Amino acid sequence: MNCLTIRVPATSANLGPGFDSIGMALTQYVILECERAEEWSFVLQEKDVPFIPKGKSNLIYKSALFTASRFGIEELPPHQITMTNDVPIARGLGSSSTAVVGGIELANQILKLELSDQEKLKIACDIEGHPDNVAPAICGGITVSSYDGTELESVRFSKGLEPLTWIAVIPDYHVETEEARAILPTQMDYKGAVHASGMANVLVAALAEKDWDLVGRMMKKDKWHQPYRSGLIPDFPHVSRVLNDHGSLGHYISGAGPTMIGLFKDASAKQMDSLMDDLPDYQVKILHADLHGVTSTNTAAMNQ
Ligand code: HSE
Repeated sequence: MNCLTIRVPATSANLGPGFDSIGMALTQYVILECERAEEWSFVLQEKDVPFIPKGKSNLIYKSALFTASRFGIEELPPHQITMTNDVPIARGLGSSSTAVVGGIELANQILKLELSDQEKLKIACDIEGHPDNVAPAICGGITVSSYDGTELESVRFSKGLEPLTWIAVIPDYHVETEEARAILPTQMDYKGAVHASGMANVLVAALAEKDWDLVGRMMKKDKWHQPYRSGLIPDFPHVSRVLNDHGSLGHYISGAGPTMIGLFKDASAKQMDSLMDDLPDYQVKILHADLHGVTSTNTAAMNQ
């Protein structure tokens, strides 16, 4: 029997002031092994069972069906999806985007839709509402995007990211994106918004110039969301201090949190070991930029 394998990277959104716009793909993955079956089902790792539905309410299935419906197709041939998930759920590393992008790619492959990245991105934005996680999950690298519900623009950076290390400091509690969005103000004064967008503009220019010291500085200068959300992360000052003390160029709340990410250039193993020693209550992951985005391969499964 043929087996379709889809791999989707974790993503980190905002990078500080790039709220709902900038995101990057990271070397941590969800892998979906998809085989034809009598009915739809999701086979999960034990740790994910409390959080991910095993049937048709699974976001992967719903995103695949949404994609199919765009092409006038109302039913999908049933598959069993075996999911190997290294992306922690509800921690700000794009777990829901992995499901959305995985589902779109599933429909793309099983219905042979031959979607371009731009077409996948438009569908993903219509599901997720903002492009910052789904764009890098589709294209890899760092993406800067804008979407107003109709018009979608997205630019990808991929060069020069190799020497960088992104240290994810992941606490053992969840923060739901809905909760982290609900605490944000509904309005901002004109002068404040001009200032806040200036910070994001400098961040983008620094990314384009690969001026990593400036990227690090700008990550900390966000005015859109971090000042409000840092209160949801009781250890925000401590983790910030540890990342600073160990030589990060900058750090930020990844997506809606609670994971925090520190940016390092040429980080040594010794430096990382000592950082981990100082954050014993956290999962600390040493990550790099994923440059591929979602991938899929078809293989003939071996006879057992
Ligand atoms: N830009 C989004 C946020 C990412 O910060 O709320 C999480 O979906």
